[in-house]
Amino acid sequence: MRRSRIAGVGSYLPARIVTNAELAGRMDTSDEWIRQRTGIGQRHIAAEGETTSMLGVKAAEAALAHAGLKASDIDLIVLATATPDYTFPSAATQVQAALGITHGAAFDVAAVCSGFVYALTVADKFITSGSNTRALVIGAETFSRILDWEDRTTAVLFGDGAGAVVLEASEGKGDASDTGVLTTHLRSDGRHRAKLYVDGGPSTTGTAGHLRMEGREVFKHAVGMITDVIVDAFAATGYSAETIDWFVPHQANQRIITASAEKLGIAMEKVVLTVDRHGNTSAASIPLAFDVAVKDGRIARGDVVLIEAMGGGFTWGSALFRY
Ligand code: ACO
Repeated sequence: MRRSRIAGVGSYLPARIVTNAELAGRMDTSDEWIRQRTGIGQRHIAAEGETTSMLGVKAAEAALAHAGLKASDIDLIVLATATPDYTFPSAATQVQAALGITHGAAFDVAAVCSGFVYALTVADKFITSGSNTRALVIGAETFSRILDWEDRTTAVLFGDGAGAVVLEASEGKGDASDTGVLTTHLRSDGRHRAKLYVDGGPSTTGTAGHLRMEGREVFKHAVGMITDVIVDAFAATGYSAETIDWFVPHQANQRIITASAEKLGIAMEKVVLTVDRHGNTSAASIPLAFDVAVKDGRIARGDVVLIEAMGGGFTWGSALFRY
């Protein structure tokens, strides 16, 4: 059976770090409030002129180097973002051009914080169907550009960054002992738009707009939606909270992550947490966290990894793979 395996992973964070203390100097907030409610201690913010596709290119180059592959080996780029450089063309095509790739296809996927799970799912389908061989799956965001810096209820939560994996075709037996993506589960429910949205766009205001969120409402739905798609992933593969090796959740908020892990019975030692250092980087957060845990030696070849995310739309999803 044709599978898609993760050949390499990479990430990139903008150089500038903004601490909670720095934010507290600019708005009515405190390190204590932010840490207690979210677990966030700092976030990285892109420099002026540093765009989403530029972050994506750096993450992609790191993933290619980790995989020992050249850009020309890639025949598909799926880039998840809610903050593209331009309304069009896609950020994916900007990454493609910067990497010097002139064959294959490149496109963006819009699923906000669930973007990486969506993009991985799409790339897995393209590869396992036989239409493509090697894909760059990228999550890249510059949420700092759509934050209302006057709104302390949202400005303290997000950061910028990018992460990428190289997915490549491989042969498996067709059971849960295979290496590569073993199952993916995507969901959405557009009735929830008003709870988490951006108040602008090309066909409404003609501006990029600002992020608006009813934090409590998002929180209320998050844990249930996350656990539903994880239960689906376990049912499809036979893996369980006990038998997975690692849980790499979307890094929105430590309280959501802890509550989800507790509800599912996943031991906190298996949970990769980067929200303290990165903040919520939306579609970039899972590949950023995955890269940290691979590069520091926690996640090893052969380990079974569960990822999940929930975000604007609402959209939510899970994927389970053997690295
Ligand atoms: N600093 C200090 N005080 C603040 C801040 C701040 N940055 N922001 C809000 N407050 C105040 C509020 O004004 C309110 O004050 P009041 O009681 O005087 O009215 C008080 O803190 C409590 O506000 P709540 O919004 O009720 O605080 P809550 O405990 O719900 O925490 C939070 C807010 C952290 C946003 C929480 O609701 C949450 O985590 N929600 C999930 C949001 C999330 O993770 N979104 C992203 C997921 S989807 C995606 O990734 C795009």
